[in-house]
Amino acid sequence: KQKTDEISSIISHHLHLEGPLLPILHALQDAFGYIPASAESPITDALNITKAELHGVLSFYHDFTRRPVGAHVIKICQAEACQAVGAKALAQSALERLGKGWNETTDNGAVTIAPVYCLGMCACGPAVIVDDTVIGRMNETRLHKLLEEAGA
Ligand code: FES
Repeated sequence: KQKTDEISSIISHHLHLEGPLLPILHALQDAFGYIPASAESPITDALNITKAELHGVLSFYHDFTRRPVGAHVIKICQAEACQAVGAKALAQSALERLGKGWNETTDNGAVTIAPVYCLGMCACGPAVIVDDTVIGRMNETRLHKLLEEAGA
């Protein structure tokens, strides 16, 4: 209920703007950390746009996420150089440990694992970025330890 109220107040707060969609989406993302699915109908109703138009905007701008993101985000490089040194298997083992897919968050909200495409650490892959820290030469043992420390 509270969430619904917050969503409608964010929408109405921006409706007077010319081109209110992006400001609304940014405000929702700031408030919730992602764009809640329950905000979609209120937005399309208020702005008189279609769901398809909304989804187009959401997927065009990469700053918007449509799922809740964990307290810690671990991105595992899946670009070529890292793949050559086992990044795919590494990611697989992390996702399996969590029982989640890419961009999904553990049920306790602690960790999200996402793919990333090159972190500029190609010479010392597999590379991962944990929140804001880039770490090279990752291996399964270290990664599982990181997941554990992050509360996954
Ligand atoms: Fe992974 Fe460049 S390919 S860091």
